[in-house]
Amino acid sequence: MRYLSGIQPSGVLHLGNYFGAIRQHIRSQEENECFFFIADYHALTSIRDASTLRRNVLGVALDYLALGLDPERVAFFRQSDVPEVTELTWILSTVTPMGLLERCHSYKDKIARGISPDHGLFAYPVLMAADILIYDSNRVPVGKDQVQHVEVTRDIAQRFNNTYGETFVIPECQVDESAAVVPGIDGQKMSKSYGNTLEMFAPEKQLKKSISRIVTDSKTVEEPKDPEESIVFQLYRLVASQEDAEAMALRFRQGGYGYGEAKKELLRMTLEYFADARRRRAELERDPQSVEEILAAGARKARATARKTLDRARKAVGIDG
Ligand code: ADP
Ligand code: TRP
Repeated sequence: MRYLSGIQPSGVLHLGNYFGAIRQHIRSQEENECFFFIADYHALTSIRDASTLRRNVLGVALDYLALGLDPERVAFFRQSDVPEVTELTWILSTVTPMGLLERCHSYKDKIARGISPDHGLFAYPVLMAADILIYDSNRVPVGKDQVQHVEVTRDIAQRFNNTYGETFVIPECQVDESAAVVPGIDGQKMSKSYGNTLEMFAPEKQLKKSISRIVTDSKTVEEPKDPEESIVFQLYRLVASQEDAEAMALRFRQGGYGYGEAKKELLRMTLEYFADARRRRAELERDPQSVEEILAAGARKARATARKTLDRARKAVGIDG
C-alpha cells in the first residue's frame, strides 16, 4: 500500500498539528511505503516572501525528522524538487471542468473572506491531483478540510482514464476519525490563526508562559474539580501516561489541588514527552546540510516514480515524440 501526503510549510507547528496529524503520519511508516513531501509550490499561493518560504520549508523538514520520520523508510522530499509534477498538472488541467474547481470549499471560503483569487489558488486542487497521481498513490491521509480535494483528484483521474485509457491509480482518502481535536489555551480548537497554540519546539520559557495563560475557571484550590472540564487536564492527558493522567484526574476530583500545580505538571510532562524530539531538532539545526541531503535522496526516489507515470500520461495523450 503506498501512502502519500503533502505538508504545507505554513509556519511553526503546535500540539494540535502533532496529535491531530503528524503522529499518525509518522506511525504509518511502520507498515506502509510512504511518500511525504513539503508542498512548497502550493505554499506560493499564500507566502509571498522568499526568505519566509525557505525558512518554513527547512522548519517543517526539521520538525518531521526530529519527531521521528525515518528517511530510510519514507521518501521525504520537497515538492518542487520533482518538477515533473507541474507538467502533469498542465495535462490534468485540460480534463478538469471549471465547475469542479468552482465548487471547492477551500477556494469558496477564501473568496468569502475577501481574498482576491489568483489562478494559482483556483488551480490548487489540480496541482494536488498531480501530486497524488504521479506517485501511483493508493492512500492519502489528510485532515477533514482536504477530503474534497482528494475527491476532485479521483474525479480528474477517472475522467482522464475514461478519455485516454487506464493510466492512473484511483486513490482512496483516509481521514483519521479517532484523531484528537486538541484544544488551545483559550479552549477553542488549537490553531495558529487563533494565536492559542502550544508549540512543542518553543523555548522552555515561552512554553511556560503559554501554559500559564491557559484559561481556567475561578474554583479555589480546595474545591473538587471535574478534570474533563479542564483544558489543562485535556492537554495533560495527551502527553502523560495513562497512569499519570489518572493520578491527576483523581487529584482534581479530590480537591486541594490547584490549577497552578496542574500547569506546572503539564509543563514538565510536555517537555519530557518531546525531550528526544527537542534534542534531535537542535542537533539537526546545527547541520542543515544533512537535512538537504535527506531531502535530495527523497527527491531522487520520488522522481524515478514520477518520471514513469508522467511518461505514461504523455504517451496516453500523444505527446511522446
Ligand atoms: P492551523 O489550524 O494551525 O492552521 P493547519 O490547518 O495547518 O493548522 O493543520 C495542519 C494539520 O494539523 C491538519 O491535518 C489538521 O487537521 C491538524 N490540526 C490542526 N489543528 C488541530 C487541532 N487543534 N486538533 C487536531 N488536529 C489539528
Ligand atoms: N493541500 C494540502 C494541505 O493544505 C497539502 C497537500 C498538497 C497535499 N498536496 C497534497 C496533501 C497531496 C495530500 C496529498 O494540507
